[in-house]
Amino acid sequence: MITETVTIDENNIDDSAKKALQRAGQILKDGGLVAFPTETVYGLGGDALNPLSSKKIYAAKGRPSDNPLIVHVACMEDVGKIVSAVPKEALKLSEAFWPGPLTMIMSRNDKVPTETTGGLDTVAIRMPDNKIALELIRAAGGFIAAPSANTSGRPSPTLAKYCEEDLSGKIEMIIDGGQVGIGVESTIVDLTSDTPMILRPGYITLDMLKEVLGDVEVDRTIIDSSSALKPKAPGMKYKHYAPKGELTIVEGEQEKVLEYINKRAQEQMSAGKKVGVIATGKTALSYRADVVKNVGDRDNEAAVAHELFKVLREFDDEGIDISFSEAFDDTGVGQAVMNRLLKAAGHRVISL
Ligand code: TXA
Ligand code: MG
Repeated sequence: MITETVTIDENNIDDSAKKALQRAGQILKDGGLVAFPTETVYGLGGDALNPLSSKKIYAAKGRPSDNPLIVHVACMEDVGKIVSAVPKEALKLSEAFWPGPLTMIMSRNDKVPTETTGGLDTVAIRMPDNKIALELIRAAGGFIAAPSANTSGRPSPTLAKYCEEDLSGKIEMIIDGGQVGIGVESTIVDLTSDTPMILRPGYITLDMLKEVLGDVEVDRTIIDSSSALKPKAPGMKYKHYAPKGELTIVEGEQEKVLEYINKRAQEQMSAGKKVGVIATGKTALSYRADVVKNVGDRDNEAAVAHELFKVLREFDDEGIDISFSEAFDDTGVGQAVMNRLLKAAGHRVISL
């Protein structure tokens, strides 16, 4: 299959862009697959109500079929069409955060095929905050199933070129809408338990959810690597986001972290390895390694989130064999950053 790439400017959806989106919508209606930008990461879209489309998504990503997909909608009324009942929390949260980087789990009805939900009786739903995505959802008939548009296990794509790298030849179309705004996937909150529970941290933080709902819990498996519990979001159990070269997180006092990483980097470079470091504003100039990436000021967790997956991909592009990263505070958006970083590092952490 030849994959067509179409470039669209989110801030200028002119007639030719609209035509391209109609065509993309038709591809989805006909059971084909289209990668498209959202505000979080690029998604690999298929018709959520067509079991064959969901099967194609799993095949294109090489994803285990027990890992359910998120259904993307463009209006609140459409949520009512695919769930058994709309929980009152969903109304409050949609009011506060949609369109936006929040996915809600609700009980599904029979319109949603089990192929889309990995066999579960629940369905994950979100309304993305991206004009291209919203227009595409409408053109496709209202319901697009879309996991992140990467090969299973690799970092989620924040640029269209990484969708091309992973999916070219396997899907009908890629819509290039430039670099995404947020850079980590949506927060997932389960509304089917007694107390709403965060299953995956993201840009919408625990405190933001508590402000709207009052009591909110966090699935303990999200950051506790020693936990023997099974994560409630099936996808969270898989190795994920991993760069090709081995990544280690180093936590501790800044001076000690610098000294440790420089020493280990020196050893590895002497052994002929290409070494990368994920550094922050204050430290970037003090590292001695083949490639040093500054992901921004460590107090600005949203900026770090924006850069993280891109940097992991760039390490692959640049042939990095071994990499080290500083650790980040586990609060606010930092919780999403550390959750993704820990997975990328296979939970390899050195505490100094
Ligand atoms: O920001 C995002 O959410 C992006 C963009 C494209 O919208 N999508 C995304 O999808 O990250 P994906 O498939 O890479 O991650 C979906 C996660 C998986 O961990 C999956 O197990 C979980 O959501 N999930 C989906 N449906 C679920 C359900 N019914 N119950 C529990 N977890 C569910
Ligand atoms: Mg994913």
